[in-house]
Amino acid sequence: MIKYIAYILLLFMLQTTLEAASYKGQSEFVRQCVKCHKGGQDFVATKRAIEWKKLMAKKGEPLAKLHINSTDENALKSTEYFSGSRYPKFAKHLKDFLVDYASDSGRVPACN
Ligand code: HEC
Repeated sequence: MIKYIAYILLLFMLQTTLEAASYKGQSEFVRQCVKCHKGGQDFVATKRAIEWKKLMAKKGEPLAKLHINSTDENALKSTEYFSGSRYPKFAKHLKDFLVDYASDSGRVPACN
């Protein structure tokens, strides 16, 4: 019985940690991405989880390269962020958030 309770507690803690990470990713997304990707969180649902995982692999390097190497002048404004030291620190949280709310996740983030 004790074992069982410990197991439930562990699961519960794990769940909370995962949600916390996803929440951090969401605020980073709102702060950094929404200014250019107007659809806001609908934008997240334009990709499937597997696509976000690929873009956010290696601390988000593919996503950073996509913006840094873009010829679109609007994307160039993000170069500072994507090549700076903040982005790699938040890449994991962003990934958690993006994957959590990908089109095939069946979830919709709260509008806040
Ligand atoms: C300063 C503006 C700007 C910021 C900030 C920015 N992006 Fe972008 N992003 C762009 C532009 C412009 C393109 C299109 C680039 C191209 O087509 O060459 C783009 C392309 C993309 C693409 C690929 C296009 C697609 O639909 O497949 C993804 C995914 C993406 N951005 C996600 C993000 C995420 C996530 C963030 C925040 C961490 C972010 N962007 C921050 C301007 C921005």
